[in-house]
Amino acid sequence: MSLTVSGVSRSFGGVEAAQDVSLQVDPGRIVGLIGPNGAGKTTLVNLITGVLRIDRGTVSVDGEDVTAKTIVGVARAGVSRTFQNVRLLTDSTVLENVTLGLAQQEHSSFLDCMLGLPAAQRDRRAVRDKAMQILADVGMVEYAHRIASGLAYGHQRRVEIARAIAVKPKYILLDEPVAGMNDVEAGEMIQLFKSFAERGIGILLIEHNMRFVNALCEQIYVLNTGRIIADGTPAEISQSPDVIAAYLGT
Ligand SMILES: Nc1ncnc2c1ncn2[C@@H]1O[C@H](COP(=O)(O)OP(=O)(O)OP(=O)(O)O)[C@@H](O)[C@H]1O
Ligand SMILES: [Mg+2]
Repeated sequence: MSLTVSGVSRSFGGVEAAQDVSLQVDPGRIVGLIGPNGAGKTTLVNLITGVLRIDRGTVSVDGEDVTAKTIVGVARAGVSRTFQNVRLLTDSTVLENVTLGLAQQEHSSFLDCMLGLPAAQRDRRAVRDKAMQILADVGMVEYAHRIASGLAYGHQRRVEIARAIAVKPKYILLDEPVAGMNDVEAGEMIQLFKSFAERGIGILLIEHNMRFVNALCEQIYVLNTGRIIADGTPAEISQSPDVIAAYLGT
């Protein structure tokens, strides 16, 4: 059982954005993915989630090959994500943004909904209650009825995280989830991500803030120019000459 990336490569014209990348995220573990700007971190998330086509290599989710699957197929297999540049339904409320992910799990039929039958009403209430619970988890209950686009950037990120977790993923890929948050807010996210892991969700955490990564990850992969140049504990990574060279640009 794991999210497994094996020998994944992808080039854009002459640029090899991913070169033979292999990594593994186990359920309940938080694995870091770091690297300088342009290293290929976001590209890797796009390759895993079916946003970009993979040239060579495979991606599997708990043994199921998802290499050739579409965005929807990979999501169905249990992989969710957040975006480096927040993508919310800007004209919708915070609550609506989260219920959208939950609505797919409703059981009542379209006809039940149309006719306003009790089953549909019950489901709608259940979805709303679940969404409010998730918003409570991310500290956004009091913003539930606010329009998403009017929120501060750090709050929009929380809504994205809520939306990504609402679909009950097995694995979640977080692309710089605390960018734009202050230290207090980031500290709250540390607790939140730990609670996801305690529930058995495997997390791939992309982040530039090393204090944040070190607080959450026992294992870190370092990407540079599309290649994994090191992996290990925070202590091991910080001693690696290749990593030091990559960050100093030598
Ligand atoms: N669709 C695309 N077409 C062409 N080139 C692309 C495409 N997507 C990514 N690249 C290139 O792939 C390389 C890796 O970019 P990527 O955004 O994955 O880096 P990153 O590690 O996420 O950087 P950052 O830390 O700044 O977010 C860059 O050279 C980028 O220009
Ligand atoms: Mg990126």
